[in-house]
Formats: sequence, C-alpha cells, structure tokens
Amino acid sequence: MEKLGLNEIRSRFTKFFESKEHYIAKSHSLIPSNDKSLLLINSGMAPLKNYFSGVEIPPKNRMSTVQKCIRTGDIENVGVTKRHLTFFEMMGNFSIGDYFKNEAIEYAYEFLIDYMKIPKEKLYMTVYTHDLETKNKWMSLGIEESHLVLLDGNYWEIGEGPSGPDTEIFFDRGEEYGGEEAIDAFFNDEEQERFIEIWNNVFSQYNAKKGVKREDYEELPSKNIDTGAGLERWCLIFQNVNSIFDTDLFQPIIKEIEKISKKTYDNSTPFKVIADHIRCITMALSDKANFGNTGRDYVLRRLLRRSVRMGKKLGINDP
Ligand code: ALA
Repeated sequence: MEKLGLNEIRSRFTKFFESKEHYIAKSHSLIPSNDKSLLLINSGMAPLKNYFSGVEIPPKNRMSTVQKCIRTGDIENVGVTKRHLTFFEMMGNFSIGDYFKNEAIEYAYEFLIDYMKIPKEKLYMTVYTHDLETKNKWMSLGIEESHLVLLDGNYWEIGEGPSGPDTEIFFDRGEEYGGEEAIDAFFNDEEQERFIEIWNNVFSQYNAKKGVKREDYEELPSKNIDTGAGLERWCLIFQNVNSIFDTDLFQPIIKEIEKISKKTYDNSTPFKVIADHIRCITMALSDKANFGNTGRDYVLRRLLRRSVRMGKKLGINDP
C-alpha cells in the first residue's frame, strides 16, 4: 500500500465524499452545544444529533466531517494497546434520511478498495447477528463469507439519541501481530492487536433512551447513516508502523518528550500517555475547556494529573 501521511488521508476522505455530493461541514468545537447528555464531543455524529432526530434541518441531507473527538472510556488502554487514544479525529459520512444501508456499504467499499487501494483480502467486516441484509450486501460486492463475522455486539449507541446496528471494518495487520490465537480472539469479539477497527458504519434508525430496553426504542423520523473512521488508525495502517505512536502525527511529540526528559523513547507507556494526553488537553483548552473539580473540567484535570504522574516516571519533575 502507498505510504500516506495524516493530511493526505484526511483530505482524500473529504474529497471522496465531496465527489458523492456530500456537504463538507467543519468540525464542531469539542464542547457540545445544547446537549446535556455529553461532557465532550465523542463522535462525528454527536454534533449532528438534532438533524438525526428531526429537531433541526441539516444544510444538506448528506454530509461529511472530520470531527475532533474526546473519549475517556478507554483511558486505561492508552499507552497499553497500540491503538487507543483519548483525543482523535473521526472522519465520517452521514445521511439524514437520504441514502441507507445499500449505498453506505457501496461507498465504503469503493472508498476502501477502489479509491484507497486497500487489498480486499486485508479487510474483515463484523455485522450485527440479525442483520443478514448487510452480510449479503458485502458478499454481493465480493467480500468472502470467511471475512464476515456475525456478532451480537454490533449495535452502536453512546448516551441518548440516534443508535442502530452497525458493520465495523477491520484491517488485518498480518501474522506479525498474532497467529491463530489472534484470529480466534477476533472472531469471538475479544481483545487482540492483529485486526484493527478502522471504520464503523451505523444504520442509525432508533432513538436510544435511558431506562428503555433496546428492543423498545422508538424509530427515528428517518433512516440515517452515521459512520466514523479514526484518522490516526488510518495513519497507522498506511504508514505500516507498529503502533499509533509511531505515526507522523505522534513522532514529533515523542521527540519533544525525549528532549524534556533527556531519555530515549523506548516504546514505554509513560511516553505514550504523555503524548496522547498533552494533545488532548491542548485541543480541549483551545476549545475553551478548563481544569476544574467537576464535569468536563475534571476530565482535563485527571488527564493532566496522569501526565504528571507519567512524567515523574521519566524523571520530569518540573512543569
Ligand atoms: N458513531 C459511530 C462511532 O462513533 C460511527 O463509531
């Protein structure tokens, strides 16, 4: 595969969906507006929720963004796995009552295989157990049945609002990252480092509500598409490096930590945690979050504290 940098991948995604007549919207601030259910924007669809739920009219019913996101649910995994971050950019295409499953899967296939030239045999897709329509659609495009995994967990919801079954696209990094054990783990929806999720396509059809069972969620006013592809993970696969911290995006930050700590980067967790957290804090502060004792501000405070703790492990004792 061609070696591609961060900016090139981001602009290819945007260009592709522009050519499919999507309105290209700017990233929303990390601070949600009028959404009490969220402390920080955590996905491409979060700022678009009101379009999905029919409360507001979108500028166009097909849109694409590269959205700044913060997720701290996986914070303990940062610096431990090769792929977890707190701050990341999510590339996404969205349909608000325009195209649905068939076209979304066709676009995904075209972008991955024809446009980005990812070899088909490197791709695996997980599909919601009850969604045979999606499985058949992938197969009709030429994805082998052995590359399709049916899982009960393929249902996307985060907080209240639009949710639905999804199909996740994984890139196989090869035997170097795990043999039979990794394959078994992947097919059983367990943790492994060989198959890396690079894109999620959600068929956003139901309105998730606190205290309501999934099977009782109401239908949204329209059938929507919500997708999310983590830009940093695409860098990892297109630069063919071991971990997300070896990409063109993180190396300059790691080099700076080397200078400050006077230690050589040894792939250890403290370097990675500091690199991730400092980026996250910087992005959040620049969107006017702050350090504090409650809510969103406490998230930042925790990130800063963890960074300081990791800094001490590298012998950094000054601010
Ligand atoms: N909203 C979906 C996700 O974040 C695409 O995975």
